[in-house]
Amino acid sequence: MGRIRAWRPVSRLLSESAAGREQPAIAEAGSLASRSALLQANTLAVEIRNAAARRGNRLIWSGVSAEIRRGEFLAVLGPNGVGKSTLVKVILGLLPLASGEVRVLGQPPGRANRDIGYLPQRRSFDPGLRVRGVDIVRLGLDGHRWGIPLPGLNRLTERGREEDARVLDAIQLVDAEEFATRPIGEVSGGEQQRLLIAQALIRNPSLLVLDEPLDSLDLPNQAASAALLNRICEERGVTVLMVAHNVNPILSYLDRVIYLARGGSVSGTPEEVITAETLTRLYGTPIEVFRTADGHLVVVGQPEPPHGDVHAHLVS
Ligand SMILES: Nc1ncnc2c1ncn2[C@@H]1O[C@H](COP(=O)(O)OP(=O)(O)OP(=O)(O)O)[C@@H](O)[C@H]1O
Ligand SMILES: [Mg+2]
Repeated sequence: MGRIRAWRPVSRLLSESAAGREQPAIAEAGSLASRSALLQANTLAVEIRNAAARRGNRLIWSGVSAEIRRGEFLAVLGPNGVGKSTLVKVILGLLPLASGEVRVLGQPPGRANRDIGYLPQRRSFDPGLRVRGVDIVRLGLDGHRWGIPLPGLNRLTERGREEDARVLDAIQLVDAEEFATRPIGEVSGGEQQRLLIAQALIRNPSLLVLDEPLDSLDLPNQAASAALLNRICEERGVTVLMVAHNVNPILSYLDRVIYLARGGSVSGTPEEVITAETLTRLYGTPIEVFRTADGHLVVVGQPEPPHGDVHAHLVS
């Protein structure tokens, strides 16, 4: 891919101990494919067939079926505690299924995890944490190697230069050059989020799984992060599976939705799933869906709003 743009602090950082050395080439993304080609190929990134999951002795959900095609942008929606993170963990092979079948990138859950970027729910950094954003991004290459203990030596090797190129590419992709060299604890929540998305992207995953990545961001940052994820989906052909509470910022990008609710689950396109009839059945309480003059759908009456303040969900 190799988008080369003017960036300063990160380039200095990565070249400072390799003065006079050739600037590393931007990493070629191994899994690159255009989104339209992927969608045309019509292969599945995730298949869920009549699946059920338990935690402890409790059945969390059952009868969940869904298909996510490669190249799609999908949201997992539903109220607190319904099992959205449980579904994510099943897809990653971190929790077993109670029954049914799940296949991820053509394999049983867990087998293809090297090809999956994962952003877990509820991340936060201590304001005093001195580790730089760029080191957090690099951690995505190799989870157990913190920071760059031997920066000079690392850069002398072919592998070190390739790693640098990947770190740069991921940081550029999320437009984090300006703050990637600052301590992660000192950058804003939205900026931390972009660095964490860069960390999840650094190995050029085919599938990006994000558990409430917009949580705790203000509305402009939610919109910006949603647009960024859509760009990654489109430019890099990465399949995006995102858990969300507030569906507004992502609805215009969504190809597909899985709704989990205590009354069951439904999956399909937003237009198919977000109807008064379907949501009323799912939630077991009257829910109305209106279309505004400018063509947006508005969902009213959904119980358990995310933070007690959102009562309407828009669908473009
Ligand atoms: N380790 C565990 N052992 C037993 N039950 C658990 C465990 N972790 C979660 N649960 C329960 O499983 C249910 C589903 O949890 P999960 O985290 O998947 O929900 P969620 O939809 O992601 O919720 P939220 O919107 O709050 O993130 C909840 O009732 C939760 O209390
Ligand atoms: Mg959750």
